[in-house]
Amino acid sequence: MQAAGNLSADLSGAVAVVTGAGSGLGRHFALTLARAGAKVALCGRRLGKLKETEQAIEAFDGRALPVELDVTSAASAEAAVRAAEHELGAITVLVNNAGMVADRPALEQTEAEWDAVVDTNLKGAFLMANAVARHMLRLKHGGSIVNVASILGLRAAGRVAPYAASKAGLVNLTRALAVEWARHGIRVNALAPGYIETDINRDFLSSPAGQAMAKKIPQRRFGRPEDLDGPLLLLCSPASAFMTGAVIVVDGGQSASL
Ligand code: NAI
Repeated sequence: MQAAGNLSADLSGAVAVVTGAGSGLGRHFALTLARAGAKVALCGRRLGKLKETEQAIEAFDGRALPVELDVTSAASAEAAVRAAEHELGAITVLVNNAGMVADRPALEQTEAEWDAVVDTNLKGAFLMANAVARHMLRLKHGGSIVNVASILGLRAAGRVAPYAASKAGLVNLTRALAVEWARHGIRVNALAPGYIETDINRDFLSSPAGQAMAKKIPQRRFGRPEDLDGPLLLLCSPASAFMTGAVIVVDGGQSASL
């Protein structure tokens, strides 16, 4: 059996846009795509963090470009896509990874929190997908869009109502865009990870409550960013040429379990 992260794919010639590429999974996805040979536009709000990802990619002679982006703004999404095309060439891959969570009971979530979470996770992915699809249509080539959803878009948990709603919306947005854009050669799929250790959740996952949760996962552990490499490379490469509108769950069996 292969260990996580061992799947290889040749993405040389690909140009990928990754949102939220300055930290966590976005940074990891950008490195994974660059290692596979893609040129990567590292998009996000914090230029300093994006430059750190750029340096990590340049360390293995990969090509990356930091681009400032706020996914909640259509103008910013379009400007980022223009900048990526201008510097790196025709965009063939978009990874809609930028996201946020507000962690508190539904009765305590404010209107501003709802707006921020839904605007980032759902509207942001829509604006970026539209900007990239317009670009692909203009240049008359297809491509692959990967939306980073969550098992919380397929099942629910307490304290994250706006997040769970936004990710469920993202799952069906994936299907809607897949249906609409299949005839243009644009594939749209979703990755639905379970709990993956990153800076934002490491403290919780190692706490007694987190460890109790790990015991309920059939594989008895949380995911590592490398666990997503195979599914990500599959969706970004021609190996998944006949896949669109699909949702790939990567969760150690957590959402399959009662
Ligand atoms: P993170 O907080 O490290 O990454 C989120 C990134 O999105 C950050 O770089 C942040 O600056 C960026 N971002 C937020 N709002 C933005 C905006 N308006 N414009 C541009 N960039 C923005 O968290 P993590 O864990 O890396 O999450 C990445 C994605 O994976 C999110 O969509 C999250 O919902 C999803 N996910 C994470 C899981 C996990 O266990 N870590 C599990 C399932 C899904």
